[in-house]
Amino acid sequence: MKHLISVKELTKTKILEYIEKAEKFKNGNMFYEKCKNRILVNLFYEPSTRTSCSFQTAMIKLGGHVINVTDKFSSVEKGESLEDTIKTLNCYADAIVIRHPQKGSVQIASTVSSVPMINAGDGNGEHPTQALLDIFTIKTELMKFHVDIITENRENIVVTFMGDLKNSRTIHSLIHVLCLFSKITFVLIHPKGLELPDEYIKLLTERNNTFITDTDISFLEALKITDVLYVTRIQKERFQCEGEYNSMKQEQDQERYIIDANTIAFCKEKMIIMHPLPRLNEIHPEIDSDPRAVYFEQVKNGVYMRMSILEDMLS
Ligand code: CP
Repeated sequence: MKHLISVKELTKTKILEYIEKAEKFKNGNMFYEKCKNRILVNLFYEPSTRTSCSFQTAMIKLGGHVINVTDKFSSVEKGESLEDTIKTLNCYADAIVIRHPQKGSVQIASTVSSVPMINAGDGNGEHPTQALLDIFTIKTELMKFHVDIITENRENIVVTFMGDLKNSRTIHSLIHVLCLFSKITFVLIHPKGLELPDEYIKLLTERNNTFITDTDISFLEALKITDVLYVTRIQKERFQCEGEYNSMKQEQDQERYIIDANTIAFCKEKMIIMHPLPRLNEIHPEIDSDPRAVYFEQVKNGVYMRMSILEDMLS
């Protein structure tokens, strides 16, 4: 059974294979029949625009069909367990994409599934398909500056993660993926209390990557050296109480951890600004037309990367 629960399961070779296929899909930009007569169930216990719609688009482009299920409009609302929901959907689906608010829940659900399951985000755990589309975007966009992230025969790259490093599942998955590549310095910028969890700090240390935090370098100094800036919103849905969220948000605003016309002036000319979206005020819309802003390109790449994943699992 081929599930995709965590990026930890993926080798560098497999990731490069996914990227190569996604590039082909992007260049062809066509409809295919690789998943003809196959049915994908999109099961979402949390809101989504990009992940849900891009999996649907990917499946349609591959000639397959999609059934959308949300917790609010299914028997989950009547109290049906996650396990029973999965066993039921196994009767209809060839694969299940699932998003759930609890870390680890997708792994548990996969143990009762007779069809492949794809983790579309489990609480503040992981978001593997986002990390794959992110590395696809990093590779494609840096190549425009003749920087090949895959090869070791290049200068060191600085990747700065900024925002809610504690709860951002997209950052957690992307760190695992980036640790498979060499010559990367990580810079960590975050409000106090939203530090990267220890397991990821340990990973950075074990893999001999250098990392520096905002106690070593100021936010504006970090912008000056950054090649890839990855911004996330503070994840309100992960806080127990509104007051705790409000104090983190206040600190973010006070520290001016925001990309706008003033702060982008500190960035290199050849760098990229990424965000998994949705955003709040951490990137001002005035930045959207800047060629360094690639977050809507990330959205587009999501379709091609998910086509690559679905083809691998289903065809
Ligand atoms: N990036 C991402 O997961 O977006 P959605 O929450 O809209 O799916």
